[in-house]
Amino acid sequence: MSRDVVLLSIESSCDETAAAVVKNGREVLSNVIYSQIALHTEFGGVVPEIASRKHIEKINQVIEQALSDAGMTLADLDGIAVTYGPGLVGALLVGVSEAKAISFATGLPLIGIHHIEGHISANYIENKDLEPPFVCLVASGGHSHLVVVKDYGEYEIIGRTRDDAAGEAFDKVARAIGLGYPGGPKVDKLSKEGNPDAISFPRAKVDENEYDFSFSGLKSAVLNYLNACQMKGEEVNRADVAASFQKAVIDVLVEHSMHAVKEFGYDKFAIAGGVASNSSLRKAFEERCAAEGIQFYHPSPIYCTDNAAMIGAAGYYEYVKGVRSGYDLNAVPGLKLGER
Ligand code: KG4
Ligand code: ZN
Repeated sequence: MSRDVVLLSIESSCDETAAAVVKNGREVLSNVIYSQIALHTEFGGVVPEIASRKHIEKINQVIEQALSDAGMTLADLDGIAVTYGPGLVGALLVGVSEAKAISFATGLPLIGIHHIEGHISANYIENKDLEPPFVCLVASGGHSHLVVVKDYGEYEIIGRTRDDAAGEAFDKVARAIGLGYPGGPKVDKLSKEGNPDAISFPRAKVDENEYDFSFSGLKSAVLNYLNACQMKGEEVNRADVAASFQKAVIDVLVEHSMHAVKEFGYDKFAIAGGVASNSSLRKAFEERCAAEGIQFYHPSPIYCTDNAAMIGAAGYYEYVKGVRSGYDLNAVPGLKLGER
């Protein structure tokens, strides 16, 4: 049996300042998340400048807490994994600079990690039996990707959104019906009181690629519906709008994903990203996968939204492959999956 690998991981790509200590990629020894959501709520979305400043204020505290929760010091670690893209450049820079500084001071190896690779790897934490290959749907605030995970760290993107990401659509529709930011969890909650079949919203198909997504038409359809109600002086049933919109998103995500799993000949499917914490989406996938004989994997909600444990999980598999970053590691806001 080879030696344990313990990594400190850092995530600061958007509005969560997070650090974790993860052993052998699958055992989370600590997972500290400082969420800035409350700070950004009054602006209706993430304000990049505020996010960067808050990351600077919080990052040392969050790392110290992660080490102390794990009962460790820097001397117990084997390396430092950090998100270096994609994301907000100023926000990413805080985590990257911090990781480089600790690496320089301690001599610990540094491993730059792709944020989406982190989201996908969140599945390894609680599903000890999950190994590639499998198909993964990554649905977050910035991304909607269908990915074939060929091996650890080896990805093929087979579908992506042409316009809005799924989470972005949730956030925009939530704002339109007056729920505020972040929209996903609020639409999720309100939908439970509504009828998902009350309003017929479109399920978009992209002609050129059957695995691509498009959510902007759906978002416009919701806005048009709200305008039409207002012009006619009709009261809007917000729960019905939320539930019908959510169902339209889920239907498309489920159809595309199940089609891909079958066409590519896999029997394992996983979900990842903030939208993967949606309760109706999880239920829909559970039912469909059971009916189709596909093994379904999902992280707990806390590992779906941004966190550093997922970066530690991804970091482990890069570490054992020998991937190391230099002190010239930089924040790459538009980093592509599979790129270094
Ligand atoms: O993965 P994540 O935390 O950050 C990004 O990498 O973007 O995803 C955040 C997104 C937001 O758009 C948020 O509204 C959405 O995930 N989200 C949800 C739920 N929880 C978070 N969407 C639908 N249902 C939820 N329960
Ligand atoms: Zn994310």
